[in-house]
Amino acid sequence: MKQMTPEIILDVPSSAAGRRLSDWLLERGIPFRADCGGRGTCGKCKVTVLEGEFLRSASAEPYLPDERGEILSCRALCTDRPARIRAKLVSGQGLTAHAVQDAPGERANFSLEERYGVALDIGTTTLAAALVDRQTGETLKTCSSLNPQQRFGADVINRILACRNGHLGDLTGLIRKETAALLSTLSAEIHDKQIHTLTVAGNPTMLHLFCGVSPEGMGAYPFTPAFTDTQRLTGSETGIPVQEIIALPSASAFIGSDILGGVLSCGLAERHEPSVLVDLGTNGEIVFSCGGRLLAASTAAGPALEGANISCGMGGVAGAVNSVTLSQEGAFLCTTIGDAPPAGLCGSGLVDLIAALLNRGDLDETGYLDDDVTLGTLAFPAFHVRADGSHTNEPLSAITLTQKDVREFQLAKSAIRAGLTTLTEQAGEKLKQLGTVYLAGGLGFYINTESAVRVGMLPECLAGRVRPVGNTSLAGATLCLCHAARLAELETLASRCQTIDLNQVPTFSDCFVEHMLFPE
Ligand code: FES
Repeated sequence: MKQMTPEIILDVPSSAAGRRLSDWLLERGIPFRADCGGRGTCGKCKVTVLEGEFLRSASAEPYLPDERGEILSCRALCTDRPARIRAKLVSGQGLTAHAVQDAPGERANFSLEERYGVALDIGTTTLAAALVDRQTGETLKTCSSLNPQQRFGADVINRILACRNGHLGDLTGLIRKETAALLSTLSAEIHDKQIHTLTVAGNPTMLHLFCGVSPEGMGAYPFTPAFTDTQRLTGSETGIPVQEIIALPSASAFIGSDILGGVLSCGLAERHEPSVLVDLGTNGEIVFSCGGRLLAASTAAGPALEGANISCGMGGVAGAVNSVTLSQEGAFLCTTIGDAPPAGLCGSGLVDLIAALLNRGDLDETGYLDDDVTLGTLAFPAFHVRADGSHTNEPLSAITLTQKDVREFQLAKSAIRAGLTTLTEQAGEKLKQLGTVYLAGGLGFYINTESAVRVGMLPECLAGRVRPVGNTSLAGATLCLCHAARLAELETLASRCQTIDLNQVPTFSDCFVEHMLFPE
């Protein structure tokens, strides 16, 4: 099966001698994946050596490519002889679902100069931006891209480590440059009229990096952010072509303006029945609300649900398998984002595939997989179903699920389930008493609830109460862009929201272990 991953051929000059190949790629602005942050464990930074040779960074001995001609760029040192490599590029176009909601209510009168603004959601994996007419509240255009900081690691911990190693400036520069690029795309819609204000939502680490402030205090106990309140910056100090920038407030090191924006846009705090908002991202953030109480927790789901640390995992971009169902004959029927040829598995495809394997009996309750599953082998026939209903007969031989992938997935789904259960219990309620479960984020938007229940990520009793709400972080940033009162409301939510450290709750670890198993 032809892969859609874009590639580039690069000549590595002799002047790069002594440099790590991944650093050299980074300096050239090449967007490649480095999910483990350069620790040599994820395998995503591989490049193909076409000519020349490299040394192993640990021993300075020759680094012989594997049988596919590949080496890990984070483990390779350039020599004083020119070389040629082929690198896989991270696709720059994200397809995150944006549930941008209208901003009803009273609006301020914006002058012509202030009329247009952009709301930005900085996710650990994906950036999403919306150009908004602040006078009418109308979203004129949205766009998204992958977070270029991924070359420093797929999760916040690796990026905090990168700051410890002196890369704060690089990380800040990358995110600001990408933001400027998104604004440039959006401003074409208004014929390059001035974008006055930018509101920025994200998790606390992303907000620190955007503001150029080290997040190192959040990398270890007692997890202290340098700030949680609203930050105001200017375009001239950041190199972003706007007048003012408002980085929205967080509640703690774990609860940022992304999830709080979701609370604001769903009206969660006003609900009288117990309800929760769950963002199924790298950090599974959960907010519980009932009768004016707001409790929040972050559960370390890891990046598996965003496609990282999964051998054929990828973000929610074109070509990602986003749903898998079983035909009556037991074949896997896969659809892809953008109807593009299948190139890998994104979170919703992974959840579906695991559910299908459980239903077929190929995966047992403990998560034991007889053999790695390659979609398209005789034992596992699989077809790409196109949007028009036709399907290819080509096997999906490029997409494999390994035992390690299943274990990564078990950790992620168990973290979500244990977090949801523990937080609800901390609020003195039971799961079955929850009225509505809002699922935020791209994965929450696309996930098949039935599959999520089958794999045990969500309890069966909540199956009919799940409401996908899309990118509520972007919706929250949009509301704050159009109404000063909503920004004040968000600041109040941030101060009211009580963060629970799940690791300090004695029952959490037992609950986590229990839910590592799949339901029978
Ligand atoms: S193996 Fe090189 S970045 Fe992960």
